[in-house]
Amino acid sequence: MDEVVQLRSVRRVFGSGSGAVTALDGVTAAFPAGSFTAVMGPSGSGKSTFLQCAAGLDRPTEGEVVVAGVELGRLSETALTRLRRDRIGFVFQAFNLVSSLTAEQNVGLPLRLAGRRPKADEVRAVLAGVGLADRARHRPGELSGGQQQRVAIARALVTRPAVLFADEPTGALDTATSRDVLRMLRGLADERRQTIIMVTHDPVAASYADRVVFLADGRLAGELAGATPEQVSAHVTGLEARAC
Ligand SMILES: Nc1ncnc2c1ncn2[C@@H]1O[C@H](COP(=O)(O)OP(=O)(O)OP(=O)(O)O)[C@@H](O)[C@H]1O
Ligand SMILES: [Mg+2]
Repeated sequence: MDEVVQLRSVRRVFGSGSGAVTALDGVTAAFPAGSFTAVMGPSGSGKSTFLQCAAGLDRPTEGEVVVAGVELGRLSETALTRLRRDRIGFVFQAFNLVSSLTAEQNVGLPLRLAGRRPKADEVRAVLAGVGLADRARHRPGELSGGQQQRVAIARALVTRPAVLFADEPTGALDTATSRDVLRMLRGLADERRQTIIMVTHDPVAASYADRVVFLADGRLAGELAGATPEQVSAHVTGLEARAC
């Protein structure tokens, strides 16, 4: 099928015995090529655990994760690291750029780590794609928060990953800057068919996605397609009320 990411009955239990915490409790979900999905839910509902398992940064206790046709559970640590490097992009709330490197050096880093010498044109093209062609020689400290996040997104995209994961990518940005980053993500999905899975607390951010998937207590708790911020908000409020 045309599914880039699939989770099948994924459980993730932290700890053991009476102190065990079930962060994911049997999650089955599929994400088609070119789709832009937001993941929402109350604090502690398992969103970050979901993203980490789907991106091969954490291994489920039970169940399967398939990315770009490869079942992650069957891979050795080395093979998993390679697949993550080549096929998966990850963007964090805190940007995680290397402060001593310029924007273009940061973007070229994943290629260097893969043992390739980044071509200047290739890196410049990705920076231009996030609207930062004129900031290639700037260091993170010389860029605004939104520009830093766009460099981080360019860095995640330079390997042409099958899927881009983002955990609260606009969590550290003001409203106007968030909207720039969200419009850019929307553009990547529309124009390049980039598959995107984004965790967010912000109903407006979620409304940029095609689909919003909700988690509560480690389980799927509904989904909305083409939802307005108000509809997303109402669903979240319902889940939070249930959690109290
Ligand atoms: N390494 C860990 N060890 C033990 N428990 C953990 C660990 N990581 C997460 N948990 C627990 O698993 C549950 C889900 O955590 P997770 O971080 O996925 O939630 P979240 O939905 O991302 O929350 P938030 O919105 O606050 O970021 C929580 O109860 C958390 O305490
Ligand atoms: Mg989280």
